Amino acid sequence: MSDNRPRRTFAVISHPDAGKSTLTEALALHARVITEAGAVHGKGGRRATVSDWMEMEKARGISITSAALQFDYRDHVVNLVDTPGHSDFSEDTYRVLSAVDSAVMLVDAGKGLEPQTLKLFKVCALRGIPVITVINKWDRPGLAALELMDLIEQQIKLRPTPLTWPVGEAGDFRGVLDRRTGEFVKYTRTAGGATRAPEVRMPAADVGEADLAVWQDAVEEHELLSADDADHDQEQFLAGRTTPVMFASALQNFGVAQLLELLLDLAPAPHATPGVDGSVREVSDDFSAFVFKVQSGMNAAHRDRVAYARVVSGEFDRGMIVTHAATGRPFATKYAQAVFGRELSSIEHAYPGDIIGLVNAQALRVGDTMYVGDRIEFPPVPSFAPEHFMTATAADIGRYKQFRRGIEQLDQEGVVQVLRSDLRGDQSPVLAAVGPMQFEVVQERMTNEFNSPIRLSRLDYQLARRTDAAGATALSGARGCEVLQRSDGTYLALFVDKWRAGTTARDNPDVMLEELPAGGS
Ligand code: G4P
Repeated sequence: MSDNRPRRTFAVISHPDAGKSTLTEALALHARVITEAGAVHGKGGRRATVSDWMEMEKARGISITSAALQFDYRDHVVNLVDTPGHSDFSEDTYRVLSAVDSAVMLVDAGKGLEPQTLKLFKVCALRGIPVITVINKWDRPGLAALELMDLIEQQIKLRPTPLTWPVGEAGDFRGVLDRRTGEFVKYTRTAGGATRAPEVRMPAADVGEADLAVWQDAVEEHELLSADDADHDQEQFLAGRTTPVMFASALQNFGVAQLLELLLDLAPAPHATPGVDGSVREVSDDFSAFVFKVQSGMNAAHRDRVAYARVVSGEFDRGMIVTHAATGRPFATKYAQAVFGRELSSIEHAYPGDIIGLVNAQALRVGDTMYVGDRIEFPPVPSFAPEHFMTATAADIGRYKQFRRGIEQLDQEGVVQVLRSDLRGDQSPVLAAVGPMQFEVVQERMTNEFNSPIRLSRLDYQLARRTDAAGATALSGARGCEVLQRSDGTYLALFVDKWRAGTTARDNPDVMLEELPAGGS
């Protein structure tokens, strides 16, 4: 391989508002990818607008898109895969997690563990993704550090192993005790946090009079933690049994440099990945990659459709011919891009852990594998239980062609799940979403991008169970229930409520009715 620098591919995840955008900017700033904090996310007016490509995003100030930011740090290449912030788009977040080797979980020191924090921790556990926990906003009053550690241990069943420990309680952030060296890392505020935050490392003996009392508190708690066996253990971390913890203020740039160092030192590098048939692709094998996200409308002028793929093995060279595992067809990769926000730039080469954006690759769907050499197909990206259902109809019947094309495209991107049945026909498919905001995206894009405004009408179903063709037959005509088929072939039985799902299962013991992983809010 011509670029054998080690890779770190990770995502920052959190409950909305914990500081994900702020930390992303701070990390990028620290690595000097962007010259001024604010060039990455479009939020709150203060920041410039690179990723707010949809009008709706601008209006709501949320980031719906996902892309990857690549930067060099020390002698490593770091790929920060961005995740959407709103909980309605959690399905997207889960897809992104299939493309990373580790995750940085941000916890708001004032709020502790929030609903999305718990769900995301669960998904990481399920997928075997090691998590580094960052307690953020330590510059503001919040919970006690030891209390936060207890919450993680009790509610997530993950042993927190702090690498740094705050000096000064939340709201009085003087710095941290580096638990591995015993040094005091002292922070000094800079105006607006827009530049690198000065931090001074000093041995315990040099801690000044002003900080001495809080320093001694920190030392005591650090010793308590050690006595309680809460020291970092790399093997346990990689096995997903412990989570290293750091304390930070993303807004002040406190702890950001340490986080980057930790990622390089502790987070796993890209590793071998098993295929559906049990064969394993080593990173040094021939090129292979899988698509974890498909998105269009990145650029209002072009309406490009970009399939994001993570390189699993081998070297990617722009223009190489790869095989699309789903169809067995060859596929040219002339238009490969490195994508972040709205900026596209051609990439020539990519390596395991890197994210490539393939422009206008119409055949590619989420979960698809591409490879060179020996055939490989990676397991599908899991989909989540929809909880909201609407029928969609073209508002103007003369635009039915555009309507079909738009629905098909949004289906392929995974913006919503599209369900059909013979009974309902193709004129008004059922759209199924994990969160209701997905419907707004559909409506917006159908109008502005596909020129086919739609009418949505709510269906009275609340939950879905997975069934099969036999189940579809057995349940036809059953009350409070309807079976439809998703475009990936999965049969979903929709129920008006939990009670009806329960009685139907009891009355039809031979029918498969499986729960799907819960994702929504
Ligand atoms: P998100 O992407 O996770 O949703 O969170 P985001 O970074 O947008 O941060 C949410 C709010 O929390 C922002 O304030 C941000 O400035 C603030 N914040 C982030 N990190 C810290 C921190 O370390 N300390 C403090 N005190 N605040 C932090 P906002 O007023 O909602 O937005 P803005 O107008 O400042 O952008």
